[in-house]
Amino acid sequence: MTTVDTRAVHAGRDDLAALGVHAAPIDLSTTNPLPSVDTGGDAYETLATGGTLPPGGTAVYQRLWNPTVARFETALADLEGTTDAVAFASGMAALTATLLAATREGKRHLVAVRPLYGGTDHVLATGLLGTDVTWARPDEVAAAVRPDTALVLVETPANPTLDLVDIAALARAAGHAPLLVDNTVATPVLQQPARHGATLVLHSATKSIGGHGDVLAGVVACDTDWASRLRQVRALTGAILHPLGAYLAHRGLQTLPLRVRAQQAGAEKLAAWLADHPAVTRVHHPSLHDPAGLVGRQMAGPGSLLAFEVRGAAPAAAAVAGACRLITHAVSLGGVDTLIQHPASLTHRPVQGEAKPVGGLLRLSVGLEDPEDLRTDLEQALAAIA
Ligand SMILES: Cc1ncc(COP(=O)(O)O)c(C=O)c1O
Repeated sequence: MTTVDTRAVHAGRDDLAALGVHAAPIDLSTTNPLPSVDTGGDAYETLATGGTLPPGGTAVYQRLWNPTVARFETALADLEGTTDAVAFASGMAALTATLLAATREGKRHLVAVRPLYGGTDHVLATGLLGTDVTWARPDEVAAAVRPDTALVLVETPANPTLDLVDIAALARAAGHAPLLVDNTVATPVLQQPARHGATLVLHSATKSIGGHGDVLAGVVACDTDWASRLRQVRALTGAILHPLGAYLAHRGLQTLPLRVRAQQAGAEKLAAWLADHPAVTRVHHPSLHDPAGLVGRQMAGPGSLLAFEVRGAAPAAAAVAGACRLITHAVSLGGVDTLIQHPASLTHRPVQGEAKPVGGLLRLSVGLEDPEDLRTDLEQALAAIA
């Protein structure tokens, strides 16, 4: 089997030479001519109930099927080692569809391992989608799973603490319940959760997959049965990814391995430097903290996201974020430029109780700039609280 670097470049492009093109075509049609009333009706029936487009078939309507979106799905499934994938208009749309597909009357219980991305935490905590959540540490999951548990959810590395969770152990603990792993932070370059027993692998493709801060997208990698359920929810709720977004996400995959490794190398350097800085009390990065030895075993590297706590709690953290010049004070992660943000007041603002990030914590998504230039910027920003 070819390596992830090679597959990232070629996945979802097998038919391009036969089409006589080098770049993937973008199909923007919202509707498609129907060969006849019967074939149109049959195709509608298939696609609106979660089926896939047969060769030569009509896509009918973009909310049901789009070839550019399908191309990105094929490529992502290839990288995650799953048989299929389903792409959505955002990571939160992907999560919503998964919750709707997983639950039904009498089966609405979820077990979720914190910390999770704040938006995910918020949807689960509010029960907006009719779910009922039990929060659990990884070692509490087996006891928390009930006959009516529809899904177990985890994020590893977790956002924003970068805690790692053993996916294989969690899949065993989940028992009959399917396990959803949010793989946004690791990306399929560093970790393929399905190979460790995850049923569903979710990405905010807005992050590293798109990689340039110009596409909002989500995707779930899974088997064909789950993909069919997700496609039906997507067709009925209208959460399909726009084809221009699918094109950009698909193109992003081609450079993903190179970007992830270069950004990761920068993050490792900065994590080590920050750990020795007198204004910093703690650095969160798997290169520094991996008690279960999961880097190397489950993850191919520690990744490009880190977090650090500054002396002086929230006011000091706000001062540092505000003093950065090269680094942009903005939400999101995984892109080519470095971003800093204050989770307690932004991404994790809705999180309640103990799970709320501490006030002094700042999250840094390391980009492709020279790490020395990033260090210089952080040095002058940290001087603001000296
Ligand atoms: C780990 C993680 N999962 C899911 C999401 C939600 O994705 P989106 O913003 O694309 O809806 C985010 C967004 O920040 C995230 O960081």
